[in-house]
Amino acid sequence: MPTTEELHRRSIDDPEGFWREASAGIDWFHPPERILDASRQPFVRWFPDGQMNTCFNAVDRHVADGRGDQAAIIHDSPVTGVVTTLSYTELLEQVARFAGALRQLGVGRGDRVLIYMPMIPEAAVAMLACARLGAIHSVVFGGFAARELAVRIDDARPTVVVAASCGIEGARVLPYQPLLLQALELADHQPDACVIRQRPESPATLRAGLDHDWEAVVSEALWVDCVPLAATDPLYILYTSGTTGLPKGIVRDNGGHAVALRWSMEHVYGVHPGEVFWAASDVGWVVGHSYAVYGPLLTGCTTVLYEGKPVGTPDAGAFGRVIADHDVKVLFTAPTAFRAIAQADPDGTLMRQHDLGGLRALFFAGERLDADTYHWAGALLDRPVVDHWWQTETGWPIVANCLGIEPLPMKPGSPTTPVPGWDVAVLDEAGEEVPAGTEGAVVVRSPLPPGSATTLWGDDGRFVEAYFSRYPGCYLTGDGGSIDEDGYVTILGRIDDVINVAGHRLSTGTMEAVIAEHPLVAECAVIGAADELKGQVPLGLVVVRTEAEVDVDQLRSELVAKVREEVGPVAALKEIVVVQRLPRTRSGKILRSTMRALVDGSPYRAPTTIEDPAVLQELSQTLAARRPGEGASDTSGAPGPR
Ligand code: COA
Ligand code: AMP
Repeated sequence: MPTTEELHRRSIDDPEGFWREASAGIDWFHPPERILDASRQPFVRWFPDGQMNTCFNAVDRHVADGRGDQAAIIHDSPVTGVVTTLSYTELLEQVARFAGALRQLGVGRGDRVLIYMPMIPEAAVAMLACARLGAIHSVVFGGFAARELAVRIDDARPTVVVAASCGIEGARVLPYQPLLLQALELADHQPDACVIRQRPESPATLRAGLDHDWEAVVSEALWVDCVPLAATDPLYILYTSGTTGLPKGIVRDNGGHAVALRWSMEHVYGVHPGEVFWAASDVGWVVGHSYAVYGPLLTGCTTVLYEGKPVGTPDAGAFGRVIADHDVKVLFTAPTAFRAIAQADPDGTLMRQHDLGGLRALFFAGERLDADTYHWAGALLDRPVVDHWWQTETGWPIVANCLGIEPLPMKPGSPTTPVPGWDVAVLDEAGEEVPAGTEGAVVVRSPLPPGSATTLWGDDGRFVEAYFSRYPGCYLTGDGGSIDEDGYVTILGRIDDVINVAGHRLSTGTMEAVIAEHPLVAECAVIGAADELKGQVPLGLVVVRTEAEVDVDQLRSELVAKVREEVGPVAALKEIVVVQRLPRTRSGKILRSTMRALVDGSPYRAPTTIEDPAVLQELSQTLAARRPGEGASDTSGAPGPR
């Protein structure tokens, strides 16, 4: 058996040979003769002459191979008290019929379908039905508000929107249709039709001629077979937060994605066909796409769709119950989920009440894994706890301890070493590789492996600008970090204006745009403040118009409500601090990293380019007041170059 290092070396030295071999993991209508077309970098095309269908690989072929009776999806929904299992045969029936329904509504190859659904099996059925037809799905997370939904509708221009009548958050039923209608009012683009999956907790009133009931359209639909597609045809668009207020529509292809995910399931996660894999993430995020739906199904595993929380549904033992009830072999979640469990049940008594013996490993990603959570989870489960690093753009892990190849010794704080396929480096400002252990910008040398973003929807220029212009020939990950002398990578956090709240990736720019619209706000900045539970939470710093008479408490609550209303509850912006000024450079640039340090009370050095150093003293005093037990203090070192 080759070591991870050997496989990694081979994948970089001979990517075509490496991925040709991996491409045997999926079924092709026409196997690729060419493996990589890198003639138009950074727009690389994997398997350019291959023909396949992702849905065929995720569903049909398993039925043909004798897995028809095996569970494909277990929907475990403590919020409704229901557990439902769909076998591969049942999934095929549902997907083929729903594809028929979509076709009946005019959806064909290349058309977009927007999916706005909570964690119910129909979300996966709708995704797979699109894949079956060659339509491009765009799933939008339920925690976003109408305005964010409208932005995505206008960008993707879907032919059909598929929604559920409601989502359920803990004990609260959240009707989705009013949000959808509000979004459609805000959007310029109008879909031809909406399909609504009615849920008994809050059925929607359907608009005649525009809205269709899921059950009704499926009952009339014809069975549709998989459409042969070019491997390079887009499978989906997934919007993610960027540095501007406008989300980026990450585009993923069919062939590269299927090959990479199929390979990663066995090599990274060590999971085999027939086993149960659980990614406790919403389908609206990349983890939900890659490892709650496509990865496990492409592998012939059983996936768990969990409609609940780590705590409160009903208690902090919920994850243990799901592991035991469904014989979960590998669990993947965000550190926040385990921090929430540890907070509610510090000894893990409720988890331990369940038989966790079948679990082989726990994988964490989505945010930095802090040492406390790593050790707490390890002690509780007595299984490998694997930190791994990746992003919406990459679609699958860049750095991980590949349990399916060769488990490596862990170094807490590091997600271990680059996964085969990813040529990771850390660069300084000038684009030179830094010495081992030195911090810098983490990049991946082009060509990126199969499964990575192929472009941004409708915006090749922004794709190049955002990711490939800073360091030519390299993909800029947006994270800072280092690589030690053993090749272990450490990720320190974003070097741009993206923040990570409870494992959810959010743009401070979007929140700033909403706050700045308030008539009393002169200027503002949203900063990610360290938070014990959620890793980071957004904090709004607001300068009010000098001429205005302001009731500060009222302004604060208006701004919190406005962000919730316009970005969504998931933004979790709860705190606004009114300040006199924001620190800027002489050229007018807001000093974000200095503000981040001030907010967290960490030491900082004022940059020499600062317009007025006194503003830091002012700000430091104002912010100290918000940290319990701290009076006003100045944590700055002597002003000087950073
Ligand atoms: N639809 C509608 N609202 C949603 C939502 C959804 N799909 N998801 C979250 N929200 C709401 C929440 O109800 C909450 O509303 P509130 O302010 O009225 O209470 C708000 O958005 C913030 O949500 P969240 O940050 O998730 O906080 P929480 O208190 O509800 O839950 C945790 C805290 C730790 C339990 C939860 O964040 C969690 O399970 N995190 C794991 C994250 C994860 O799986 N990430 C995926 C990457 S692997
Ligand atoms: P998303 O695109 O939502 O998956 O978020 C990606 C971002 O989450 C990365 O750019 C990192 O900032 C952060 N992230 C993901 N996994 C890790 C990890 N294991 N350690 C540190 N940060 C992580």
